[in-house]
Amino acid sequence: MSVEKKLIKDKIPKHIAIIMDGNGRWAEKNGKERTFGHENGVESVRSVVEGAGEIGVQYLTLYAFSTENWGRPKLEVDALMGLLVQSISNETVELMKKNVRLQVIGDVKSLPENVQCKLNWCIDTLKNNTGLTLVLALSYSSRWELTDAVRRIAEDVQQEKIKTDDIDKDLIDSYLNTAGMPDPELLIRTSGENRISNFLLWQIAYSELYFTPVLWPDFRKEDLFKAIYDFQHRERRFGKTSEQLMS
Ligand code: FPP
Repeated sequence: MSVEKKLIKDKIPKHIAIIMDGNGRWAEKNGKERTFGHENGVESVRSVVEGAGEIGVQYLTLYAFSTENWGRPKLEVDALMGLLVQSISNETVELMKKNVRLQVIGDVKSLPENVQCKLNWCIDTLKNNTGLTLVLALSYSSRWELTDAVRRIAEDVQQEKIKTDDIDKDLIDSYLNTAGMPDPELLIRTSGENRISNFLLWQIAYSELYFTPVLWPDFRKEDLFKAIYDFQHRERRFGKTSEQLMS
């Protein structure tokens, strides 16, 4: 029986986040430039978006470009930005057919003008869709997001829009880029690295972590289903005991 068929239908995570890693190593293994790995990573994105939509995941957040990635060689950064624009142009019709919406988290204003333009166009085109929301983390890092949220909260306290006593978990949630989204129940990282790398640090407080050695360009929806299968067989206790969960 395929892993997909073994999935428990009413236990599909509402939100899955993925750290797509290993493009460079995949390219090296194939004797090619790093950008070749990124290009092939697009097919993996296509496959997981399709798979997540098919089984009813509501939000899929992909770490496509971190704040720290700006420090990579200019050639690679330019190639990644170009790939992004090209992928959006090529995929929007397909995303429309699949009833997918698009959202972006991160410091969007730091992205090149043409990337911002393409993203806004795609978000607008897909805005009335009701299926999966694909969330691209671009120029994103958790510390950037939290710093930005703290700054805006402080400003709103100063302007007396809120009081310091109003600051609680829900208020902080509402100042994050992920406001309105459920926290990810499952975080996947490919390529055998066991790190979080500044991704959704606040939101993954109770997420299940799944690390796989598969390099991102080799990752397909079947690998996503395998991760979900594993997730469905874990006991999530949220600080409680097993006995409390039974009662
Ligand atoms: C990490 O691999 C991957 C990235 C920094 C970029 C991810 C981008 C894509 C998959 C392509 C475009 C995305 C979309 C959404 C269309 P790495 O370069 O760090 O690999 P390494 O650790 O092996 O060097």
